[in-house]
Amino acid sequence: MVQPVRVAIFASGRGSNADALIRFSQRPEALYRVVLIVSNNSTAGVRQVAQQHGIPFVHLSSVTHPDPEAYVAALRTILQQHAVELIALAGYLKKVPAAIVQEYRGRILNIHPALLPKFGGEGMYGIHVHEAVLRSGEPYTGVSVHLVEEEYDTGPVLAQVRIPVAPAITAEQLAAQVLPYEHELYPLVLNQCARVLRRC
Ligand code: GRF
Repeated sequence: MVQPVRVAIFASGRGSNADALIRFSQRPEALYRVVLIVSNNSTAGVRQVAQQHGIPFVHLSSVTHPDPEAYVAALRTILQQHAVELIALAGYLKKVPAAIVQEYRGRILNIHPALLPKFGGEGMYGIHVHEAVLRSGEPYTGVSVHLVEEEYDTGPVLAQVRIPVAPAITAEQLAAQVLPYEHELYPLVLNQCARVLRRC
């Protein structure tokens, strides 16, 4: 029997993608298990998600660790303690330290609510992404799952879903339309990465 790949989720907000990843991991076809949730926000909704599923929640930020080196060391330690093999960013607004990106290169995923490489980069998060898509007049938006590199939203794209932008839609409506596609795509891609890691 194949041991499930041990996943840590990093999240800063509501945690709906974290919830979707955890729920998928309870299915028979899942090849991963979420063993840890890390947040830079101690009051984020994702904390309740962690509690509901009985998954350890750790708050790590410049508040808990004002010294950047101490912060990286704490992050590394917690990942090692939980024997984390894959990291899934799910609405994580803090940049992953370069040292951690190097140690886990090719094993950190992110989900972005638009068609990268457009509408990515610093400041492109949450509703700002959808506002930019509407401003651009692009006929399509979508969801991208990509590998994480040192800069925001720059790593290779692993999978995308393309969604038509309806006329006269608000950014909030667009965000609500895109979100269920995120919940569907992200667990599938994470599971595929777990399969590659286990070579099964
Ligand atoms: C999602 O739209 C995700 O694509 C983006 O941030 C949002 C997080 O939402 N990176 P949630 O916290 O998973 O509900």
